[in-house]
Amino acid sequence: MIILAIETSCDDTCVALLEAKNSRFRILADIVSSQVKIHKKWGGVVPTLAKREHQKNLPLVFKKALKKAKSASRWTKIDLIAITAGPGLEPCLWAGVNFAKDLAKKLTLKIIPINHIEAHILANWLRSIGSNFKNIFPAICLVVSGGHTQLILMREVGKYKILGETRDDAAGECFDKVARILGLGYPGGPIISKLAKKPKHQTIHLPRPMIFQKNYDFSFSGLKTAVLYDFRAHPPKIRTSKKYIQEMCFETQQAIIDVLIYKTLKAAKNFRVKTVILGGGVAANKELRRQFKEKIKKEIPYSKFYIPDSKFCTDNAAMVGVTAYFHWVKGKFLKNWSAITVNANLKIS
Ligand code: KG4
Ligand code: ZN
Repeated sequence: MIILAIETSCDDTCVALLEAKNSRFRILADIVSSQVKIHKKWGGVVPTLAKREHQKNLPLVFKKALKKAKSASRWTKIDLIAITAGPGLEPCLWAGVNFAKDLAKKLTLKIIPINHIEAHILANWLRSIGSNFKNIFPAICLVVSGGHTQLILMREVGKYKILGETRDDAAGECFDKVARILGLGYPGGPIISKLAKKPKHQTIHLPRPMIFQKNYDFSFSGLKTAVLYDFRAHPPKIRTSKKYIQEMCFETQQAIIDVLIYKTLKAAKNFRVKTVILGGGVAANKELRRQFKEKIKKEIPYSKFYIPDSKFCTDNAAMVGVTAYFHWVKGKFLKNWSAITVNANLKIS
């Protein structure tokens, strides 16, 4: 079947076309139109601006995706529309949902509304896990993005339990806010990871918030505040120096990595899971990927470890299409497109 997938929960306008058969996927087109240039000067995403951009971009990105998909394979019609319905920025979600509804009406198609967090998890079935479902569950999933940091116990596709989540800022948000304090630009994660350099003699020591608490929750706003205090405590000449910036980027990244790995592995051990699964924009971080792999091999060698390719960690529509396919297989879809609404705080369950 051919699935048209649309994702507009934040600041990327994403459209993908997938060919799905027996839980295997061929990506015919996967277009991401970034709005970074527009939001850069504000240091973060401005929801009303993002919505306007989505409305402007969606028809163009859709056309581009169709053209690419037609040249990639011979197919005649779209069978299904997948659309992110939450969580995310409400105005942005509506831009995508309204576009999907218009298309569904015109083409008389069914729409499946998708949870963005579930899509970040199921992005792993695009390539790395493939059509494999044996010896995967139970799994611990860590979804780390600009809007979310959640540890989720997954018993099968469609069966999730949130074990813990951030009580304030998400891990990606922390990267973004620290980058803003240091005057580095937006989005912060990729910039910080590029600049991070371990110093010969470390002088900056940041906290690892909530790391040893007996729960699976996270908190990153204190980490950002610690960066702010240290930054302010230094004269401008020092805090703008290459040496200071490189060390602060290194220590911020390592503090986030330490907390994420410690809590994820604790959950993996306690629930005796077969697999650890990562997803979300922060999972594109090279150092996080490397250290996770190393720690899992050392501490829980009986567990498998999956992360999507970096481009499927950050927001994309292909992951939304995969999720819709699994819902469709289970017979879970809405027939009436007009009933679809958005929920900015949609929970995975
Ligand atoms: O999943 P995503 O694309 O959008 C949301 O659902 O929020 O995640 C975006 C977040 C941003 O906060 C960005 O700074 C972070 O992911 N990010 C990274 C990296 N690439 C993107 N964080 C750390 N290292 C990276 N390489
Ligand atoms: Zn996301």
